[in-house]
Parts: sequence; structure tokens; C-alpha cells
Amino acid sequence: MGDMRRVLVTGGAGYIGSHTAKALARAGHVPVVFDNLSNGHAEAVRWGPLIIGDVRDPAAVEACMRDHAIDSVIHFAGLIEVGRSVVEPDVFWDVNLNGVASVLRAMRACDVERLVFSSTAAVYGQPDVPSLACLPETLPPLPINPYGDSKLAAERLIAAHARAYGLKGVALRYFNACGADPEGEIGEAHQPESHLIPLAIEAALGLGPALTVFGQDFPTPDGSCIRDYIHVADLAEAHVLALHADAGSDGFAAINLGLGQGRSVLQVIQAVSGAVGRPTPFGMGERRIGDPACLVADAGRARTLLGWRPVFTDLDEIVSTAVAWRRQPVFGDRLLTTERQVA
Ligand SMILES: NC(=O)c1ccc[n+]([C@@H]2O[C@H](COP(=O)([O-])OP(=O)(O)OC[C@H]3O[C@@H](n4cnc5c(N)ncnc54)[C@H](O)[C@@H]3O)[C@@H](O)[C@H]2O)c1
Repeated sequence: MGDMRRVLVTGGAGYIGSHTAKALARAGHVPVVFDNLSNGHAEAVRWGPLIIGDVRDPAAVEACMRDHAIDSVIHFAGLIEVGRSVVEPDVFWDVNLNGVASVLRAMRACDVERLVFSSTAAVYGQPDVPSLACLPETLPPLPINPYGDSKLAAERLIAAHARAYGLKGVALRYFNACGADPEGEIGEAHQPESHLIPLAIEAALGLGPALTVFGQDFPTPDGSCIRDYIHVADLAEAHVLALHADAGSDGFAAINLGLGQGRSVLQVIQAVSGAVGRPTPFGMGERRIGDPACLVADAGRARTLLGWRPVFTDLDEIVSTAVAWRRQPVFGDRLLTTERQVA
């Protein structure tokens, strides 16, 4: 293999990280997962070694880099629930910013040059654009919660390291990650779950409470929020491509990952009902504070800089991969049940 990379995948026991580890292995790279299993699952680490450790511990990260002759890093490890970030900003800033600082320090110590970072559309906050407009990376980022703040600060720290120390950094700003491995080996198993599609599937299967749709008076065609749902396998491929992306003269690039196509909450519910074969029970609730009407990516930069072409463009197909995963009798259920017992 000409350009085989040995990639440290922090947070690789989690949802997006595990799918990326699979994509890396398929492309001929070696994924070495580093995760403290606070939210991830050892069962989801199947394509390389799992080193259990905390990303805020630079010595542990550095030892892992040396032991496994790492030459690139993809940093997923972080805390992700926006609501929790508002009530526990301390821990969010600590994990999401100090975790990156520690990885950067270890990279310098080991002469590792390439970092791909999990960022988020939350850095845009409530963008001041015409309703239903696509968001380009050139918009001024103005996050509105500690989650988005901590991710933007981490981006800026990476950019500063790129300028000062010659690191090559790519921040991938995901819109709404969803779906599961099309081969059914891994999928989404957040605990607690806060994402629309898995919650809707639980409701439709009768495994969870009826769904609440937050807001029905947004300036959108059906009154519910519009988001850009991007399949996790397509996200995973973008990370493989980003290992080789030209980060430009600054050594740092931020790149949106979305389809550039918006879907409303009510459209998602319809897709889930279709894929499950039963209506999804739902009720209408108030808008949540800080929920923008519409968040859709301008995905042009991902095409030009990464050569990225998402494969899953059909919402019904995307949702059906998530339903197939949740219906599996062994892995999905065992995983969720075990964790509910622990919780
Ligand atoms: N899921 C989404 O829709 C979405 C959207 C935008 C951005 N992101 C970003 O993508 C990344 C991955 O998200 P995900 O949905 O896969 O989340 P996840 O919770 O499934 O995965 C995160 C992983 O990081 C690990 N982790 C957390 N703190 C750690 C620490 N201190 N040390 C070591 N490991 C630690 C967890 O155990 C978990 O395995 C996150 O950084 C998140 O901010 C996710």
C-alpha cells in the first residue's frame, strides 16, 4: 500500500468515530482507537486496537502515538449534548478544548503533522441569513451555547498551531449525522440519545416515548425545523479524504459536511414511519431556545477541497439503514439494554 497511514482515532469507540475506523481500514489504513469509553462502546472497535485513556492526558496520548507509530490524527473525542453543555459548561470546555490542546501537544512531541477535527454546524449559531439559505464556511461563526463555543475555540487553537508550528489541520463541520453502517456492523447508540432519527425510530417501534416536535411555527413550508441530514458512512469517507486534503497556505481549513439539502422534522418523521412500517407517534411542543429554523450546508468546499461525493442522498434510504441497525436482535439491543441497566 503506497500511502498507508497509521491513524490515531480519538473517540473511535463512538458513533462517527467507529464508522470512520471501518472506512479507514477499508481504504488500507490502520486505525488505532483511543477512547475513555465514557460514551463509546468497546464492541464498536473492530478494525484495530483499542487503547483506553483520556484525551486530556497528554502523556497517555503521547505514549499511544509512540507505541503505535502514529502519523496522523482524527480527533472525535468530545462531549456532544447541547443541552448538557448549557448546564455543565465546565466539563464541556474541559473535554472539548483541553482534549484538543493535549492532542496538539502530543502531536508536536511526536512530530505528527496531520490533524482532522470533528467540528459542527453549531459554530454558526443562529446565522443571520435569508431563511432557507445554505451556509458557507465564510459566514462569521457565532455559536450560541457552550458546546458550539468549545468547538469553535478548538478550531481556533488548531488554526493557531498550524500557523505557529506548521501543523496541517482540517476541521470538518458536520451538519446532522445520521444513519448506520449499511452492512449493519455498527450504528448509533448514544446514551442518552438526543438525536431526532433514533428517537423517532424508538417511538415508532414502541420502544420509547412518543416524539415531541419542538416548534410548529417556524418560517418553513410545514412550520417545523429544517436540517441537513448526512449519512454517517459518507461522513466517514470524508475523513479518509481529509487525511490528504490540501489545507492551503494557512495550514488550516474548515469544511462543511452536509448534503446541501434540507429536510423538515415532519419529513423525517414520515420517512421513519415508512421505514418502520408503522406511524411514528408524536406530539407538538414549544420551540427550544436557540433552535434556528433552518441549518443547511453549502457543501461546495467539501467537493472542491476533498473531492467528496456523498452516496446516500435519499432520506428514505438513510433512515432505513438506521432502522435496520435498531432492529438487530443482538448488537443494538444488547448494547442499549446493558447501558440502561448501568445508568
Ligand atoms: N453526532 C452528530 O450529529 C455530530 C454533529 C456535529 C459534530 N459532532 C462531533 O463529532 C464527534 C463525535 O460525535 P459522536 O456522535 O460520534 O459522539 P459519541 O459520543 O458517540 O463519540 C464520542 C466518543 O468520545 C469519547 N470520549 C469522550 N470524552 C473523552 C475523553 N475525555 N477521552 C477520551 N475519549 C472520550 C466517548 O467515549 C465516545 O466514544 C464529537 O466531537 C461531536 O462534537 C457530532
